[in-house]
Amino acid sequence: MALTQVYGIIGSPMEHTLSPIMHNTAFKELGLNCVYHAFNVEKQNAERAIKGALALGFGGLNVTIPLKELALQYVNPDTWSRRIGSINTIDSKGNGYTTDGVGTVRALKEAGVRVRDSNVLMLGAGGAAKSIAAQLLTEGARVLVANRTKSRAVILAEKMVTENISCGCGDIEPLGLDKVNSVIGEAQVLINTTSVGMNGVAEGQTLVRAEQMHKDLVVFDIVYSPLETELLKEARKAGCMTIDGLKMLVHEGAAAFKIWTGFDAPIRLMESAARAALRG
Ligand code: ATR
Repeated sequence: MALTQVYGIIGSPMEHTLSPIMHNTAFKELGLNCVYHAFNVEKQNAERAIKGALALGFGGLNVTIPLKELALQYVNPDTWSRRIGSINTIDSKGNGYTTDGVGTVRALKEAGVRVRDSNVLMLGAGGAAKSIAAQLLTEGARVLVANRTKSRAVILAEKMVTENISCGCGDIEPLGLDKVNSVIGEAQVLINTTSVGMNGVAEGQTLVRAEQMHKDLVVFDIVYSPLETELLKEARKAGCMTIDGLKMLVHEGAAAFKIWTGFDAPIRLMESAARAALRG
């Protein structure tokens, strides 16, 4: 009998991840002899975890907080993820990819949001933020990157320029979080890429409040646990359209699934399985 192909997600914390339910649903639907598990891996164990999984013949891995940038050095990144400096997907040969940006932009488009020529205010400058900023710039958006540690936002913006992802002529601007108030009025989209608001990390917190928002702002939180984060509650109070993190999870997951299996993922089914799991 053929061996079951093992897939997994590594990162920390892992208690609330919906990636296993989502991918296992997809494997079952397509009749693939595969299984997907979550593994809690801290930074100091990232290298051994990745090399161990590859040595064990895993079909692939997803990489999440806080390993997206660190993991890059333990794989052969494809050109795009190397230029960006972040990965969230590894295949069985140890090649690395980033699908966060594609997932985010697909989720925005699915919600009917125009990306080209939009001003996007992005909170955070970590691994996910890099991938999202790069994709937004490629699709013609202007990106304002606001981060707690401003120097990290500056590094992100400089990377987009040195890698020719952005021309740097005002299409990407690094800021500290203290500048959010002065730029949010000109933004059409606000995306939280930080872990603020996530269960077990910074529960019930938000970097932006309703009184700072305007009703034409689309507010997208890539955190999906809880599904309605404090940021999205505030956005609802302000009358904004909201997009929750499951939309991003499903689209970035579908892109990873395609890399691993070559098949188009059953997106709707993956989303409904993940939503059902969240409802308990
Ligand atoms: P990932 O690779 O998944 O993006 P990361 O690289 O650890 O994760 O990035 C986490 C992001 O969340 C960073 O932008 C971080 O801000 P700093 O660069 O200042 O650390 C942001 N973040 C995490 N906790 C935060 C908090 N309590 N307030 C504001 N920003 C926070």
